[in-house]
Amino acid sequence: MTITPVPRVALVGVHGYGANHLDRLVTRHRRGEVDLVALADPAPLAEPLDGVPQFDALDDVLAVQAPDVVVVSTPLHTHADLASRALRAGAHVLVEKPATADLPSFEALLALAAERERWVQVGFQSLGSAALQHVRRRVAEGRIGEVTGYSAAGCWLRTRAYYDRAPWAGRRRLAGRVVADGALTNPLAHAVATVLAVAGAQRLEDVTGVETDLFHVNDIEADDTSVARARLVSGHEVVVAVTLAATDVGEPFVTVTGTGGTIRLHYAADVVVEEVPGRPPLVTRHQRTDLVDDLLRAVRTGERPLSPIEDAGGFARVQDAVVNAPAPRRIDPRFLRRVEFGDGDVGLQLPGVEEAVQRAVTEGKTFTELGLEWAVTAR
Ligand SMILES: NC(=O)c1ccc[n+]([C@@H]2O[C@H](COP(=O)([O-])OP(=O)(O)OC[C@H]3O[C@@H](n4cnc5c(N)ncnc54)[C@H](O)[C@@H]3O)[C@@H](O)[C@H]2O)c1
Repeated sequence: MTITPVPRVALVGVHGYGANHLDRLVTRHRRGEVDLVALADPAPLAEPLDGVPQFDALDDVLAVQAPDVVVVSTPLHTHADLASRALRAGAHVLVEKPATADLPSFEALLALAAERERWVQVGFQSLGSAALQHVRRRVAEGRIGEVTGYSAAGCWLRTRAYYDRAPWAGRRRLAGRVVADGALTNPLAHAVATVLAVAGAQRLEDVTGVETDLFHVNDIEADDTSVARARLVSGHEVVVAVTLAATDVGEPFVTVTGTGGTIRLHYAADVVVEEVPGRPPLVTRHQRTDLVDDLLRAVRTGERPLSPIEDAGGFARVQDAVVNAPAPRRIDPRFLRRVEFGDGDVGLQLPGVEEAVQRAVTEGKTFTELGLEWAVTAR
């Protein structure tokens, strides 16, 4: 009988989204599925965990431990460096999305993972959903005829507290480093990654060109109301339209449009709606695999995980276009509405943006091409 050793796991970044990773790792640790050997964060936990040492930095962990897996849940511009250090120390890595903040560091991390023969799983958790396979299968079976286009739409609201929570929030660059914390590349990055996955355009070479149309409503450097249109090597186009200034917040979704119908994936809910004229909509619900569990399986079996770094290449192309685009244009305040929340937080909304997002994805046009007044007057 072979005895599989319990994988040693370290977590880098324990607050913010890292707190979710911490909760789940502690549960696995208590069940004996992993050995949580260290936490690294310059801001330690107020209440240390029994038997789990805390360090200020990943390097301090690697000086005394050899984790099998390192989970990185830190600011975007620190991912490349931390993931590389973990790989060089022999660990497999789960790095939160996006894998890196820019294309050169993406290519370097991709090459390092291949050289070290280690998995780098990127935390696009929607790629752990069985809904993706379902959509791809239905499309391949011709259920909606010939595909004419792919799109993704997302209408969220992010308030001042969101942008005030960290110095890197809403930044394109910080202290000379690319951060790329815009709507397309961070909060609604799943929309981009998921539509590219549905379209089979996950590798770097699958995306041949990207146009962007970037705006901001909030007092930030990055975009919060944006369109990206990507051309794929397959000949198809992918259009993503998003906003963080919605008046009517909803679940983001990916749509595959065909000559005979549409398939819509509500990726945050793992729900797929297939609509073909003359038939009632077919609604299906799907299971999701947690990406840390999936990485642990890949480490154990040697089989490919569900969201390896090479499958974030299409996303990295879109991110690169956003990083290198001219600065997002500010939407004139006369188009905006200020909302106050009971806790003193405030948000800015762009009334009508939901319809603009819908038009952008159905007509395949940018906000500027649609001639929207708030877009053409922005500067
Ligand atoms: N998958 C998702 O749905 C999802 C959702 C939200 C955030 N995220 C991702 O999680 C990551 C963290 O985002 P956040 O909003 O929690 O950020 P944050 O800035 O709020 O928190 C990051 C944590 O990392 C720590 N940290 C910073 N630099 C560090 C370093 N060099 N070494 C160790 N720890 C360090 C900070 O002290 C903090 O505890 C980002 O990549 C973000 O995109 C993913």
